[in-house]
Amino acid sequence: MAHSSSPTPFTVPGPARLAGRIRVPGDKSISHRSLMLSALAVGESRVEGLLEGEDVLATAAAMRAMGATIERGDDGIWRIYGVGVGGLLQPCQALDMGNSGTSTRLLMGLVASHPITATFTGDASLSARPMARVTVPLAQMGASIEASPGTRLPLMVRGACPAVPIDYELPVASAQVKSAVLLAALNTPGITRVIEPVPTRDHSERMLAGFGAQLTVEQGPRGRVISLTGEAELKPQSIVVPGDPSSAAFWMVAASIVPGSDVVIENVGLNPTRAGLVTALRMMGADITELDARVVGGEPVADLRVRHATLAGIVVPHDLAPSMIDEYPALFVAAAFAEGKTVARGAEELRVKESDRIAAMRAALEANGVTTEEHEDGLTVHGSGGEKIAGGGTVATKLDHRIAMSMTVAGLHARNAVTIDDIAPVATSYPAFYQQLETLSGRAA
Ligand code: S3P
Repeated sequence: MAHSSSPTPFTVPGPARLAGRIRVPGDKSISHRSLMLSALAVGESRVEGLLEGEDVLATAAAMRAMGATIERGDDGIWRIYGVGVGGLLQPCQALDMGNSGTSTRLLMGLVASHPITATFTGDASLSARPMARVTVPLAQMGASIEASPGTRLPLMVRGACPAVPIDYELPVASAQVKSAVLLAALNTPGITRVIEPVPTRDHSERMLAGFGAQLTVEQGPRGRVISLTGEAELKPQSIVVPGDPSSAAFWMVAASIVPGSDVVIENVGLNPTRAGLVTALRMMGADITELDARVVGGEPVADLRVRHATLAGIVVPHDLAPSMIDEYPALFVAAAFAEGKTVARGAEELRVKESDRIAAMRAALEANGVTTEEHEDGLTVHGSGGEKIAGGGTVATKLDHRIAMSMTVAGLHARNAVTIDDIAPVATSYPAFYQQLETLSGRAA
């Protein structure tokens, strides 16, 4: 992938208020799932609003390598002709997952119950991420897996056919693990159950039901119980992908911290399993108004108007963690401009994202004059009370798109320029981010 070979440094231009409207790109989680499920339906599915970032394109390439036909029309609509559950073909080459953990873990699930063998490779960031959380349940279902030391990539999955259904209680709150098991269950005879003690994003459940899979969700004594009846037949769908709240997060924080800002972020998905940052920012005093609340593709969506506000530090409630797990870097930036300190704990999963986001954000903020305290499971950030931070530092993004975008936002209200060592990873999830920054700051050509 381009970003691992050629770093692209960026110096954040000086402060400017943000004003205007922008539309955020399609939701990354929903985009991955729409390609995977369409590729398993028989017939033509259409997807509108697909995120055309590197991570999702890695999923598209992998599904093509396993037999699906996937085309993008000039109208921007993606058409997918699926092979049917059970119909995935043996890929001829290793599947290059780039930087994408979601592609890797969900596709490992799909391969696990098909009579094929696939090798997964990725960039330096992805190759350092733990995969045992997925290989353990998939091995219980009968797949054989050869992984690199530490159960990391590169790894090879040999699918079992037939695979065996399992009851699996998630040991870690992870939608990727839940989804890997559910996707494996599609081609597994019998009923597979996933027990989820802590609810995580539910896009897989919503979309599997939408494609016609027999899926039930109940509240049991140990948490949500998701049961899927295997050897499913999926019917092709037309899907509209809502905008990604994880991409909207950067503008919510930017407009909140830069004085004079007033921004409308259009088309933001507000599924309750994803909307934790809105709750946290409102607790801090952010001025966020939901406009034109509607349903898009079975998901709640609204335009968000965000105006500058005086923020106050908070103790972030632990139970918000799963619904804002990708938004902590942005939250830490909001905290850097709040009055007093913000304490975010109970978020140890941040250590195994595209980077160790606790260590990476701590280093990035400290390099730019923000005082922090690192915890095993989170970060305490001492805020400037709305004043500009010192800036002047260089941020090591560690191949992590969200570190790059979060610290770009921090640089919008800094006394000295903030430099990002490499913004190339932003293309994994938000290719238009820097263009939209120019639009909102009135610097567009
Ligand atoms: C995702 C789940 C989350 C999230 C990731 C996308 C998904 O990962 O961090 O960006 O689409 O299922 P975990 O399952 O590791 O929490």
